[in-house]
Amino acid sequence: MPCSSVVGLQWGDEAKGKIVDILTEEHDFVVRYNGGANAGHTVVRDGKTFKLSLLPTGVISPHITSVIGNGVVVYPPRFTEEVSGLTKAGLAVGDNLLVSNHAHVIFPYHMEEEKLIEGAATTQAIGTTKRGIGPCYQDKLGRLNGVRVEELLHPDHLRNRLRAIVTHKNRVLAALGGPSFQPFDADLLADEYVAHGDRLRPHVRDTTPLLLAAVREGKRILFEAAQGSLLDVDHGTYPYVTSSNSSVAGIWSGSGVPTRHLTRVLGVIKAYSTRVGGGPFPTELLDDTGEAIRRVGREYGTVTGRPRRCGWFDAVAVRHSAAFNGVDELCLMLLDVLAQFDSLKVCVAYELDGKRIETFPGDAFLLAQCEPIYETLPGWGKDITAARNLADLPAAARRYIDRLGEIVGLPIAIVSVGPDRAQTIRA
Ligand code: GDP
Ligand code: IMO
Ligand code: MG
Repeated sequence: MPCSSVVGLQWGDEAKGKIVDILTEEHDFVVRYNGGANAGHTVVRDGKTFKLSLLPTGVISPHITSVIGNGVVVYPPRFTEEVSGLTKAGLAVGDNLLVSNHAHVIFPYHMEEEKLIEGAATTQAIGTTKRGIGPCYQDKLGRLNGVRVEELLHPDHLRNRLRAIVTHKNRVLAALGGPSFQPFDADLLADEYVAHGDRLRPHVRDTTPLLLAAVREGKRILFEAAQGSLLDVDHGTYPYVTSSNSSVAGIWSGSGVPTRHLTRVLGVIKAYSTRVGGGPFPTELLDDTGEAIRRVGREYGTVTGRPRRCGWFDAVAVRHSAAFNGVDELCLMLLDVLAQFDSLKVCVAYELDGKRIETFPGDAFLLAQCEPIYETLPGWGKDITAARNLADLPAAARRYIDRLGEIVGLPIAIVSVGPDRAQTIRA
């Protein structure tokens, strides 16, 4: 089983970090291929919590080589901060952490641009994490102003590039920001990023040939998605998405490893739904039930601390994302959070323009008009956090698991009943 993928099937925060951590036991490499420090992946082992944004979850497992692939956008101060956090926690970070020389670099002007655009009165805000992700990917695709990690290692070249780029950025940002905008100084920025380059240097490699060699040698690679597939720029609820392919679609372009090598795609789902930021969310609960899910599930953003929007499980949305990811098996997470309810709802179809539909509209403005059609299932009303086998679960909890698998049309391989690694049931 050489290459596996862990992908979120909702709007992010499905507890991918926990699943990646569990699967590190069976792998040699963990590769991040999309996004950047907009992600927030949590791992709890023996009561000890680790939170990772930019670094692959593999960094807390010493036998793993962790790779930040070419498709990731890297904010160097965040890289340094996370590495020193790990060092303080007693975890050695050396050449077990590699960064692609072709990954793009986030600069402070990206964050400034995002702040000004998201804050503009004329814009319908996406509700981004404000980590500079969108503007950095825009520069990558626009080509003229994108800077790759390799360029940080060549001081004179970087200085020349930044002089040209910063002149352009200052003009654009002054127009957006008005008189209060403080222009960036290209030479100061170059000094700062040359120093970042020196810190990154020991980790920088051309990671694509390295990963392809690993595949040839039969090494086992685990691809760790950031965000959820419904935030995928092509397949998600556009325009309320992130700026990368957060589904399996991003693996090939974001790591250089052809997806033909994938032998197992694990789709991670919460037992309910959450979303952070703007965009349509048919099963959202703006009432006490939504509030109760948020409180018990501790549904506050790992990165921004924003309260997550909460709602019932949406099987229409998950069927859609499971299909375009080619998911083999599901991991059902946070089931314990639902113990508080007497009955549970699952969205099995939508009503759009007076008609029942079972397919997911790909356009946000159409999805916003969809009303959920629910099936009601009995709750189990008791704590399940100590369950370690399916047989330990109340019959109603087993029925909920079976029914979700049935409606989505996929087997459920793992059920999670608490944040700790140990609170896991192999189904
Ligand atoms: P990710 O971005 O997909 O890795 O998910 P996050 O880490 O942002 O959010 C998932 C949150 O749920 C984290 O705080 C986890 O520690 C926590 N968590 C994971 N699995 C479970 C579970 O089964 N039950 C509960 N109650 N919490 C869980
Ligand atoms: P993990 O990996 C949940 C959301 C933001 C916003 C939209 C675009 O922890 O699951 P961006 O900053 O990426 O341009 O914001 O995407 N978003 C996430 N939501 N989990 C994430 O990552 C997210 N990363 C981005 O809230 O709605
Ligand atoms: Mg998260």
